[in-house]
Amino acid sequence: MNFYIMTLFPEMVMDGLNTSIIGRAVNKGLLSIEALNIRDYAFNKHHSVDDYPYGGGAGMLMQAEPVYQCYDALARQIRERKAGEEERAGEQPDMACGKKRTRVIYLSPQGKTFNQSMAEEFAQEEDLVFLCGHYEGIDERVLEEIVTDYVSIGDYVLTGGELPAMIMIDAISRLVPGVLHNDVSAEFESFQDNLLEYPQYSRPEVWHDKKVPEILMSGHHANIEKWRREQSVIRTAKNRPDLLEKAELTEKEKKLAKEIQRDGQPVTE
Ligand code: ADE
Repeated sequence: MNFYIMTLFPEMVMDGLNTSIIGRAVNKGLLSIEALNIRDYAFNKHHSVDDYPYGGGAGMLMQAEPVYQCYDALARQIRERKAGEEERAGEQPDMACGKKRTRVIYLSPQGKTFNQSMAEEFAQEEDLVFLCGHYEGIDERVLEEIVTDYVSIGDYVLTGGELPAMIMIDAISRLVPGVLHNDVSAEFESFQDNLLEYPQYSRPEVWHDKKVPEILMSGHHANIEKWRREQSVIRTAKNRPDLLEKAELTEKEKKLAKEIQRDGQPVTE
């Protein structure tokens, strides 16, 4: 999977993504991450990329042309790479990149709120382009021409789109086969079935006088699964009751969730 980030701060994203699991996946060739500096496409001699908004108002706006030129160069690069891949595979090169348009994600508090199912959907793409705004945003006209998806990471305002892009890339990358050592763990975790993850314990058996729940030491897998599912329901009811509406619960689990919500019991093992 190939990620391209259009930004004024390429070092910020590259430094942040070149470490740990994502960095290892890049080294293994499972992912590629490239940051393009929008400033390199500034058309004036001062390489400035921002200007005052028409109609007045606070702050500066990123201008349309450098963003468009950056996108245009990137779209060409992706087209040529795909044509090369098709040629090597013995297919007829499709220079129009006709089958499907590469998705261009603009990070903005005005977008749709990012969640796990969006991460799953984006993880199906071969290429993803992220456009990071700064200052007070980007001239609307270029957004209209190039953006396919408007995405927010939550209801708060950040200084730019770089951190949101990094968060999205992290969440999407770990769903790409081979990126996590254990492919099962991407499936069975928080938000699987719209339930939060159950509590987990490792050695030692007793820590600060707290003992690992007995059932986990029993070796009885069916009972352990039952306990974990119950814990997930309890946690979700307590911490994220909004998720329960979309979760598929048995009648017994619905009753348990209602009790937790009514009594406000703390999450216990
Ligand atoms: N840019 C600034 N704030 C943002 C947010 N909450 N999500 C995505 N992009 C942003």
